[in-house]
Amino acid sequence: MILDACCGSQLFYFDKSRDDIITMDIRKEKNEIHGKKVNVSPNIVGDFRNMPFENETFHHVIFDQPHLKSPGKNSIMYAQYGGLDRNTWEEDLSKGFSECWRVLKTNGTLVFKWSDHDARVGDVLKLFEEKPIYGHRRGKTVWVVFVKREDNK
Ligand SMILES: C[S@@+](CC[C@H](N)C(=O)[O-])C[C@H]1O[C@@H](n2cnc3c(N)ncnc32)[C@H](O)[C@@H]1O
Repeated sequence: MILDACCGSQLFYFDKSRDDIITMDIRKEKNEIHGKKVNVSPNIVGDFRNMPFENETFHHVIFDQPHLKSPGKNSIMYAQYGGLDRNTWEEDLSKGFSECWRVLKTNGTLVFKWSDHDARVGDVLKLFEEKPIYGHRRGKTVWVVFVKREDNK
């Protein structure tokens, strides 16, 4: 089973009909802003800081949380991707990562996406207790992959 912990409009899927992905987001929303459609329809409305799942439930976890601190409330970016709380974002991301790790099975993989707009990925990764094994950068966008080993190293 796969968990997409903050699925948004599920824009990056090749196949949205797979039945082995649980999608979660803090909101359920369908609307249009400045001509752009927003359709956030998760299986579960939930908070990545306190997830409603047992330990070690998923083989793969996707953590694509908002990257922007307090984007304009009427912007397409906010409608599509949400925003981080300027005051609590570090604690929120740290809690979110710990929750992703908790619900990930041993030998499972976690993919984390970041965009170097309001904070640099190196600083964000310092908020997490685990270290990624590899990653890839294209422009400001970075993907990194973590593996939960049996010895948890
Ligand atoms: C960068 S977007 C995800 C984009 C998505 N991967 C896509 O393909 O469209 C981040 C999402 O995280 C959601 N979010 C923000 N805070 C959250 C929280 N505490 N728990 C769960 N989801 C949250 C936002 O509502 C937003 O839809």
